[in-house]
Amino acid sequence: MPGAADSLASVGFYITTAISYVNGAPHLGHAYEAIATDVIARHMRQRAADVFFLTGTDEHGEPVADAADARGIAPQELADENAARFRALLPRLQVSNDFFIRTTDEQHVRRVQAVLQRVHDNGHTYRGLYEGWYCPRCADFKVENEILEGNRCPIHEIRLVREQEENWFFRLSSFQEPLERLFAERPDFVMPAVRFNEARAFVASGLQDVSLSRARLKWGVTVPWDPEHVFYVWFDALLNYYTALGYARDGEDLTDRYWPATYHVIGKDILKFHTVFWPAVLLAAGLPVPEHVFVHGFLLGADGRKMSKSLGNVLDPDDVLKRFGSDALRFYLMRDVPFGADGAVGMDGVTARYEGELANEYGNLASRTIAMIHRYRGGLVPDARTDPELASEFKGLRERVCELLDRADVTAALDQIWQRVRRCNRYVEERAPWKLAKDPAAAATLDQTLASLAEGLRVLTVLLHAYMPSSTATLLTALTPEREPGSNPFGLEGAEFAGRAGGWAVSELAPLFPKVAPPAPQAA
Ligand code: MSP
Repeated sequence: MPGAADSLASVGFYITTAISYVNGAPHLGHAYEAIATDVIARHMRQRAADVFFLTGTDEHGEPVADAADARGIAPQELADENAARFRALLPRLQVSNDFFIRTTDEQHVRRVQAVLQRVHDNGHTYRGLYEGWYCPRCADFKVENEILEGNRCPIHEIRLVREQEENWFFRLSSFQEPLERLFAERPDFVMPAVRFNEARAFVASGLQDVSLSRARLKWGVTVPWDPEHVFYVWFDALLNYYTALGYARDGEDLTDRYWPATYHVIGKDILKFHTVFWPAVLLAAGLPVPEHVFVHGFLLGADGRKMSKSLGNVLDPDDVLKRFGSDALRFYLMRDVPFGADGAVGMDGVTARYEGELANEYGNLASRTIAMIHRYRGGLVPDARTDPELASEFKGLRERVCELLDRADVTAALDQIWQRVRRCNRYVEERAPWKLAKDPAAAATLDQTLASLAEGLRVLTVLLHAYMPSSTATLLTALTPEREPGSNPFGLEGAEFAGRAGGWAVSELAPLFPKVAPPAPQAA
């Protein structure tokens, strides 16, 4: 975990999302995970950390093969089609990933084979007969204590299929002790704590060996020591985090620079794979395990139920992007759903946050601060000592935000910032610059008020940049248009409320969050 607050220059910070299945289209859950991960990655870059941010698609396995079959096309064709859709969504969300991995990349395939060959050579595999309850949607055999009544999948609630096959096994059971030790020594290996406890309890309940290969399936990475088999898709998929570093940059191997990963960000449904299987595979291959796995919750429909087209409670990221733009989508998701918990989301909630907080609070603070500087001081922020009382409200803010984001608590960090947005708006009301402007004796107080507001707004904008990259860039350009060449206005070292501010000119600012028309009524 990086040290609190200050510059992280030269610290390697490697952060990943789960890679998405390509048997369906991208939805809000994928957008959510990518956005939260992006907020952390951007924030760490603002602290000058050496960030590498990976996302991508998980393209092998039975569900993809089945979905392609159903459409009468080859699995690769389906994968190409949907991987392109996942990839195209990222820039629209302003996700700043450094690489996009596809598990059908030839380089990934070769590296998976090399790592798992090592696991095999190290004696952690054997051939055996597997019989168990299998969920075709999860592509996973379920162990007894996970299965719902009536032999149903705990996630999809569909009936499990009794499957039997000859395949290769991974000796997960022999990692019982090393994993117990890992959990005993590293209480922040899995975050938040409730997920740590869940993962630890899974280990404590006794680990059983898991199947490593499939004999029936063709759509996967061939097992190098037994080419009639392909690897079980989860092993191929998990390894993406490691393999990508080997080929993400032409002619350069980034593994030493970034491995082990600082954060894997995942949803709660794939906890077991990332917190139990994954460290065990790495240990079996003689590789270091990741520093943290952060497990977020699920986005639910506005009615609190699982989002589903048939219930009509799906919030489509496209609809939000078209109406409100990506800064608003990012802000809404990070603000409304405490990161780590489940949360109900819907268009009414987006509208309320957009109007109530983005337009009326932050947007309004920005436009009135800049407008008053134009009106009362000809567009020049007065060079003045800032108000110590307002300054004291910002004291420790940057450090607090850094500490929270070191723990991936994107919601709490945003709340810290937002409390100061509100404080600055109250400050405008308390100081009433429009009254001060009428009183020549209050000129110095007005100077101080405007300098303090400009400074507060600047600090808030630097801190909000990771959440809302484009509106903060527009605002900072208007607030501090003249910059020294080569300076980075968004460097986090600048998020410190200065004792003296001003002496610079501002330019015009169009409303950052303009009124959005209600959606046209749907035809019946
Ligand atoms: N392919 C696997 C992950 C392999 S990682 C080595 C997978 N793919 S997925 O497409 O089903 O999910 C990708 C991510 O999106 C997962 O972390 C999952 O938890 C997350 N989400 C999927 N639906 C979600 C919500 N409704 N809400 C929040 N996140 C959700 O699992």
